[in-house]
Amino acid sequence: MTDQANPPAVKKLFIKTYGCQMNVYDSQRMAEAMGAEGYVLTEDQADADMVLLNTCHIREKAAEKLYSDLGRLKPLKAEKPDLKIGVAGCVAQAEGEEIVRRMPLVDLVVGPQTYHRLPAMVRGEAPAIVTDFPEEDKFDHLPARRATRRAPAAFLTVQEGCDKFCAFCVVPYTRGAEVSRPVDRILREARDLVDRGVREITLLGQNVNGWHGLGSEGEWGFGRLIRALAEIEGLDRIRYTTSHPNDMADDLIAAHRDIPQLMPYLHLPLQSGSDRILKAMNRKHTAAQYLRLIDRIREARPDIMLTSDFIVGFPGETDQDHQDTLRVVAEVNFGTAFSFKYSPRPGTPAYERPEVDGPVADERLQELQALLTKQQKAAQEGMVGRTLGVLFEKPGRKAGQMIGKSDYLHSVFVDAPQAQVGDLVQVRIVESAANSLHGELVA
Ligand code: SAH
Ligand code: SF4
Ligand code: F3S
Repeated sequence: MTDQANPPAVKKLFIKTYGCQMNVYDSQRMAEAMGAEGYVLTEDQADADMVLLNTCHIREKAAEKLYSDLGRLKPLKAEKPDLKIGVAGCVAQAEGEEIVRRMPLVDLVVGPQTYHRLPAMVRGEAPAIVTDFPEEDKFDHLPARRATRRAPAAFLTVQEGCDKFCAFCVVPYTRGAEVSRPVDRILREARDLVDRGVREITLLGQNVNGWHGLGSEGEWGFGRLIRALAEIEGLDRIRYTTSHPNDMADDLIAAHRDIPQLMPYLHLPLQSGSDRILKAMNRKHTAAQYLRLIDRIREARPDIMLTSDFIVGFPGETDQDHQDTLRVVAEVNFGTAFSFKYSPRPGTPAYERPEVDGPVADERLQELQALLTKQQKAAQEGMVGRTLGVLFEKPGRKAGQMIGKSDYLHSVFVDAPQAQVGDLVQVRIVESAANSLHGELVA
């Protein structure tokens, strides 16, 4: 019973999220779980009763950010000894109690598969470090989705973990084995989100197109799941990320042809254009197979925009391998792509392999990025004059201005004084800026 004279004090939770969209989703779910414990989110770290850092371990620099941020929290903890500091996410999973040894100010360490136990940990009813891969499904123990922030676009994790074991990657170790969430839970969560005003859902998974599950007529693939989601009234846009080329099944490619709600955008990491390096990375496909796949996807949806991830300077990469990557990039013509310098990660198969010289890798990265930037610019400029759907996500800084996302995920600035966040409108693109587009409402 709540004591009327002394209502329980509201406690404030500050969350910082590093890394991928799955971490953004997990942070929202952790905020919801802590909401049930009386915590509300704050944007001001200095005002917080609890600071939670949801971390990423993908590259060395990403992991080191945690330690510099923890160092910066020392004065706040000294000033507020009751402040709780928690570390979640993939560094928590990979380093566990090492984090507390290195940074004794940390009170709690929780891995990506165990964060449903966070409230019990905060209450002192569970150990302070929980990084196992439990039998139970965390989603069964989390509160139903609540509107912590009203937003018309939401993430929904449908698949977690990875069994692909690319030679450079920590994800199979930090997120564990591949698990697909059941159809009914996904559809229920999607309906809950739509009931709360969400119009666009991005389905998430480390290997999202590998999702499979038991549906009404037996085993469903990811394409079938998208078809079922497209039947939800009010769900206007569906996206997904990240996909592996080897899991682009025929029914998924067909969904890109048949489902108007499925946006014409696909993030399909290639990593390298050299067959030798693809093999050393354990990607299990060749450059030619990737190109053939792209042809089939473009046949199904000619206006699709393709994006990708690349690693340069993978152990053993020669100049010729690098030239192969540039050639394949030129052939595909990506809308945009991320490119990273290889970062050796402890515990992965490539860790012990001799590295490419730093300056050589830097030069290759610059060369690849220059080409990708050129392609991104051309793709954006190609939007000028076209009329696209734009979902308004927030007001702009100028009075009467709205910012939204186009079908192709570009940020679009529009003068629309009568419009509301959540409006899905037709916009004629009039200008391409550095990382955004400008458009006018089509009457
Ligand atoms: N599941 C996705 C990607 C996960 S990580 C996939 O299969 O592609 C996101 C990107 O980070 C990867 O695509 C890769 O390009 C990059 N990455 C992963 N490990 C890396 C490492 N050790 N060094 C540099 N980049 C890395
Ligand atoms: Fe990492 Fe490869 Fe799995 Fe992607 S497919 S998460 S790169 S191991
Ligand atoms: Fe990073 Fe873990 Fe995502 S390592 S990229 S936060 S799955």
